[in-house]
Amino acid sequence: MLHILFLFSLILTTTHVLAQDFCVANLKGVQTPSGYACKTEANVTSKDFVFTGLGLEGNTSNIIKAAVTPAFVAQYPGVNGLGISAARLDLAPGGVVPMHTHPGATELLYVVHGHITAGFISSSNKVYLRTLKKGDIMVFPRGLLHFQVTAGKRPSLAIVYFNSPNPGLQILDFALFANDLPSDLVEKTTFLDDAQVKKLKGVLGGTG
Ligand SMILES: *[C@@H]1O[C@H](CO)[C@@H](O)[C@H](O)[C@H]1NC(C)=O
Ligand SMILES: *[C@@H]1O[C@H](CO)[C@@H](O)[C@H](O)[C@H]1NC(C)=O
Repeated sequence: MLHILFLFSLILTTTHVLAQDFCVANLKGVQTPSGYACKTEANVTSKDFVFTGLGLEGNTSNIIKAAVTPAFVAQYPGVNGLGISAARLDLAPGGVVPMHTHPGATELLYVVHGHITAGFISSSNKVYLRTLKKGDIMVFPRGLLHFQVTAGKRPSLAIVYFNSPNPGLQILDFALFANDLPSDLVEKTTFLDDAQVKKLKGVLGGTG
């Protein structure tokens, strides 16, 4: 009898310890560097673990002829705390994902169809550049500047995975030309001339 009671209490304790299998985001709460607080487990459903948007083609009728459809924690609360997320990348002919970094994640790009020229620049300024075809994958280490452009005349599709539910994104040209950093400081810190800086600020909406 005592043995059975002991076994029961052990099972209960173990169940309790193992209960933190996931932490589906409560998106109404605040996002912290370690993610969102968890939704009450009783309110979690299978829907929280599924994201259905990646089957839809993104709209590439824009200045970069590219579209990124994110399945990050804000769109996909089930990945909260799991160190993973994904996105769909549609690239039209002539499309480009401009030079950017993800401060919070390494990226793995898988080409579903088409050809994509992709590259990253290491912190010792070496360039790692490849043209990828259907079925190829390429990894972009966390925090490094990288880009993707359509290779050839056909549209291409890739799925990208990140080892964070919230990879973050900083686009180099937006950082330099889409804000109010005074033009003379942009020129001084980038060695670009005034005409080029003013032109890019005009295109990207920067002031100063
Ligand atoms: C769980 O769902 C119920 C019913 O929708 C809601 O009233 C309650 O606030 C939810 N609990 C949490 C912690 O979100
Ligand atoms: C795609 O975006 C363009 C520009 O915003 C818009 O005019 C067009 O209607 C959109 N196409 C679709 C299919 O949503």
